[in-house]
Amino acid sequence: MFFNRLFILLLLVGFNSSAQQNCPILPEPLKTDRSEGSFMLSSSTQLIGDKSAKANITLFEQEIKKRTGILINSVSPSGNKIYLINEASMPKNGAYQINMVANRIQIKAGNQEGILNGLISLLQLATFSGKNKNSIVIPCWTISDAPLFEWRGLMLDEARHFFGITKVKQILDWMLFYKLNRFHWHLTDVQGWRITIDSYPNLSKIGGVGDLTNPFGPAKYYTKQQIAEVVAYAKERNITVIPEIDMPGHATAANKAYPAFNGGGSKEHPNFTFNPGLEETYSYLTKIIAETVDLFPSKMIHLGGDEVSFGAKAWETNPDVKQLMAKHNLDNILMVENYFFKRMADSVKKLNAKVLAWDEAAEANLDPKNTILFWWRHDKPLQLEKALNKSYSVVLCPRLPLYFDFVQDSTHVLGRKWGSKFNPILAVYQFPGKNELYSNTLIKGIQANVWSETIYDEKRLDFMLFPRIAALSSASWTPVEKKNDAVFLATLKLHLNLYQKEKLNYFDPFNPSLTKEN
Ligand code: ACM
Repeated sequence: MFFNRLFILLLLVGFNSSAQQNCPILPEPLKTDRSEGSFMLSSSTQLIGDKSAKANITLFEQEIKKRTGILINSVSPSGNKIYLINEASMPKNGAYQINMVANRIQIKAGNQEGILNGLISLLQLATFSGKNKNSIVIPCWTISDAPLFEWRGLMLDEARHFFGITKVKQILDWMLFYKLNRFHWHLTDVQGWRITIDSYPNLSKIGGVGDLTNPFGPAKYYTKQQIAEVVAYAKERNITVIPEIDMPGHATAANKAYPAFNGGGSKEHPNFTFNPGLEETYSYLTKIIAETVDLFPSKMIHLGGDEVSFGAKAWETNPDVKQLMAKHNLDNILMVENYFFKRMADSVKKLNAKVLAWDEAAEANLDPKNTILFWWRHDKPLQLEKALNKSYSVVLCPRLPLYFDFVQDSTHVLGRKWGSKFNPILAVYQFPGKNELYSNTLIKGIQANVWSETIYDEKRLDFMLFPRIAALSSASWTPVEKKNDAVFLATLKLHLNLYQKEKLNYFDPFNPSLTKEN
């Protein structure tokens, strides 16, 4: 049924004839006009910008080489030119303008972030244009563009399964291609602790052992040097990296390494929590946070805070917790959870860093000015309202449609579903739609979360990510008035061709029965 719908939409736009006339850029720019002529990009094309544009020029040259094979690093005065122009009067929110004529392209923006967005649009135009032997003939466009949201995020869970630095860099490359700018790195959970902490080396050495598929596999984790490498690589691509150290639940791997801070769990979720009743737990976690914050110039740390109830019942019989409750007049374990979270958030604030947390933390009376909450429980819209009413900034990442571990086709069985509901590409594309709640200015943006319980290798990661990452880019960038399902699908066809060329294991929503779920 889904196939038929997509197919009919494609017929409506007549993709064979019209795709070439549509602008191939995703996310769709705010305003595009096809203009006369074409620009021939070749090795003698010259990029011209001031000193501040140097890093972007180098990056653009690298990306053009990678996607098209053309090496442009010309200083030839006779070649055609791409001018990168800082225009102080333009907004500094990532907006940009492109003007193209046959021998000249101008990209204008209020800062280098906007210039890079313009260069990425040009990169896509080049990628989807016909290549002659040593040049690409790019049809001329006039483009005026700006992002819908400032936060355009992707979260990757490397605790359940670990993918490693090469794969992470590849994902960052694709995030750049789609103008996504926040990489949320879920580094700790039940199945693994993936970040080196010098004060507590066993966190990675013991906590990093195994994964969900093989609990006894070798320890897998990032060294501090590797983390610095990822952060620098992301920064070149205008992507901010945010680490997540999940607490007080999802702490099983840490508890394996340092049982002294174990707060217990349940039969289904043993050793799930840190012990909020021990003073030592707070200094232990504060040291971990301080080392983590030092590695990430974003000065943002995600403290998790989700699903504590999976293990917190054990606190009711824990003498340390009972003492804490008596001392601070905490009547129940939910109050203990909020006490814990508030203390850890205060520690983060003292480190001059921002606290990020899942939507459960809306209960914890944190400082709204120093907190961003992530609304993930799509079945609890009141939790979103509560967060907004308490003046928290919010990133929208509801399971439906933004959890990419959910399947994308009715025939798929390996990933998650919500009852019979799942996350097909158009559901991602159409988000956030015309929802009044989502247009609150406290909403910073949106994010897709790639949980990896059912994503056990790189191939399957690609299958779950592509092509939904393209739909995510439109969801985060393009306002509802500018979206069009049929035109998007026609453009998506071109992007699928690119995935094919790049040998990605993508899902083809137009031919679901031809792509094997794996
Ligand atoms: C979550 O999915 N537990 C945030």
